Amino acid sequence: MRVLGLETTCDETAAAVVELKASGGGVILSNEIYSQTKEHAPFGGVVPELAARAHVEHLDVLMKRAVEGAGLRFEDLDGIAAAAGPGLIGGVMIGLTTGKVVALATGKPFIAVNHLEAHALTARLTDDVRFPYLLLLVSGGHTQLIAVKGVGDYKRLGTTIDDAVGEAFDKVGKLLGLPYPGGPHVERKAREGDPMRFPLPRPMVGRPNADFSLSGLKTAVRLSVERAAPLTQRDVADLCASFEAAVVDVIVDRTRMALKAFREDLGAPQALVVAGGVAANDSVRRGLLRLAQSAGLKLVTPPPALCTDNGAMIAWAGIERLQLGLTDDLSFAPRPRWPLDPNAERALNGKA
Ligand code: KG4
Ligand code: ZN
Repeated sequence: MRVLGLETTCDETAAAVVELKASGGGVILSNEIYSQTKEHAPFGGVVPELAARAHVEHLDVLMKRAVEGAGLRFEDLDGIAAAAGPGLIGGVMIGLTTGKVVALATGKPFIAVNHLEAHALTARLTDDVRFPYLLLLVSGGHTQLIAVKGVGDYKRLGTTIDDAVGEAFDKVGKLLGLPYPGGPHVERKAREGDPMRFPLPRPMVGRPNADFSLSGLKTAVRLSVERAAPLTQRDVADLCASFEAAVVDVIVDRTRMALKAFREDLGAPQALVVAGGVAANDSVRRGLLRLAQSAGLKLVTPPPALCTDNGAMIAWAGIERLQLGLTDDLSFAPRPRWPLDPNAERALNGKA
């Protein structure tokens, strides 16, 4: 079984072909991506109209390259999967419509993929993780702790009530005059800084649920910046280190609470899986590794290129669904909001 996956929900345009092995795992035959970071950098964030235009310009070329790079023709595919949300509506419409057109032209089954489900299932492509497992998804757009019980079967244990974790990194980067996106730059500066110098809050730590709140921490950084201005290079490094240390404490504490809820409800998870751009952060990884070890759990972190938005994860989610006979009609409408867990309707501000 070979499926084409299209991803256009945010600022990456991506297309990939993944093949299902006889043993049950997957092989990535091609994985094409065009990252729009440069287009959005002057604005310090993703501009939806620019993103949609860039998707239109690049998707068909990437898609052709993905199919040819896999050594296939469109008619050799067994299914066409496209991310149908959640995400920026303009981009979602482009990927979804393109996927439908290919499905219509080839007569192959169409699968409308939930972008969050694709992140959630990636660890099964990369590491063959068995259900059920606990997923921490931390990126610029999402912050969620999810019990992954099976394909299409998710329970959200925690989310953010304001900013996403990656968004907080980016805002702090901007406050400190670092380039966009700030996450990797904040991490680099933090390596030279003193994490104890600025006493920053750890919002939500100790709360019995597994939700996040980052905006207070960001405000605390802003106040520290104002007090310390004009900033020296040392101040910037110390602020980055202090912020990162606070975020790691929050992430580890929230994940610990989610793990507790998971155990009470479903027993021991098969693994703790981390995905999303923030999973590239070394301090975050180390904090989670300590937590996993103390809980006797395996920590699975897919390689960064598969943790961040990509086409292979959409193709793989397509394979998982197609295997179960879960295909979609060509009338499937784009969904700017699409929570994985329909019972977690407390979707708070579009980040959930
Ligand atoms: O998953 P992703 O590529 O895109 C989505 O947001 O869906 O994640 C990008 C986010 C950005 O906010 C970026 O600053 C953050 O992940 N990020 C990091 C690091 N690398 C990327 N945050 C902290 N440390 C990093 N090393
Ligand atoms: Zn994503």
